[in-house]
Amino acid sequence: MRNKVAVIGAGNVGSEAARYLAYNDIADVALVDIKEGLAEGKALDLSEAAYINRFSARVYGSTDYSIIEGSDVVIVTAGVPRKPGMSRDDLIEINLKIIKQVAENLKKYAPDAFIIVVTNPLDAMTYAMYKLTGLPKNKVMGQAGVLDSARLSFFVAEKLGVSPADVNGMVLGTHGDTMVPLPRFTTVNGVPITELLDKETIDQLVERTKFGGGEIVKLMGTSAWFAPGSAAALMAEAILKDSKRVLPVTTLAEGEYGINGIFIGLPVVLGGNGVEKIIELPLNDEEKALLKKAEEHVRKLHETVDRLM
Ligand code: NAI
Ligand code: 2OP
Repeated sequence: MRNKVAVIGAGNVGSEAARYLAYNDIADVALVDIKEGLAEGKALDLSEAAYINRFSARVYGSTDYSIIEGSDVVIVTAGVPRKPGMSRDDLIEINLKIIKQVAENLKKYAPDAFIIVVTNPLDAMTYAMYKLTGLPKNKVMGQAGVLDSARLSFFVAEKLGVSPADVNGMVLGTHGDTMVPLPRFTTVNGVPITELLDKETIDQLVERTKFGGGEIVKLMGTSAWFAPGSAAALMAEAILKDSKRVLPVTTLAEGEYGINGIFIGLPVVLGGNGVEKIIELPLNDEEKALLKKAEEHVRKLHETVDRLM
């Protein structure tokens, strides 16, 4: 049986997610976008790269959501990205309208699929998708922590002159200003970076991570896509292969870390049943206080979603 992943939104992030899945032969990809010709064009272009890149995955695209039927996983990137000067939270109203349309179509054509939300503001849109689809909590999750942790890994690797592949970053909390990078749990082949770098340097890397998205928006005038798209595809891969990867994922907390009833970034085991388990790290008081701040911030966004729905 071939795996199938639907990617909703064939813009920058959706294209990279589709490319990762196809080039690595992880799944067939159904790309959907409301913009006439865009998903079809991207799918054709990707398919024409199959011989060169030696993959067999099929990629097809349409404005018609019926092509997503039979998908095992859906990656949702449909939405408006931020422009310079905007925060992710500024997108809540416009992107909630889009998430509502997407959720209707997912209920109709892929009611049993696992859903990975990428659209910003991430924590709020993941919560909205959970409410709108009525799926169980293990099936609806958001991508933010994989990207934010990868950014931290890269910054640490660059500073130490080592491979980013050997740096395991750990970033929890929200995908925004109240993000919680955790230096004590960020390791270079098992060694915490608190043993390898001084506090001032670590503080700089943490700040750069928290504003990593904004750094790219400032450079390009729109938000990033290579790292975000491949991060979402990596999560889909973990589900499809039942790999039980331990990754920071935006998930519904129900008592873990003392947080209840909100979607927030926490380390989880990601496998064939989606979010299979939330892992509780032994946080110190300072780290707990940062996570509390993140919780308060994201709870307000959840309340805004409730009001707008
Ligand atoms: P983009 O503008 O390149 O692509 C978005 C696509 O969504 C467009 O092609 C648009 O036509 C499509 N779309 C809009 N409404 C739709 C609907 N109802 N059904 C299907 N398609 C629809 O934007 P980009 O850069 O790909 O970003 C997408 C979203 O992802 C934004 O909200 C952005 O803020 C967010 N993002 C989230 C990240 C994360 O880590 N969670 C990282 C980077 C971006
Ligand atoms: C990013 O972090 C803007 O969420 C987007 O690149």
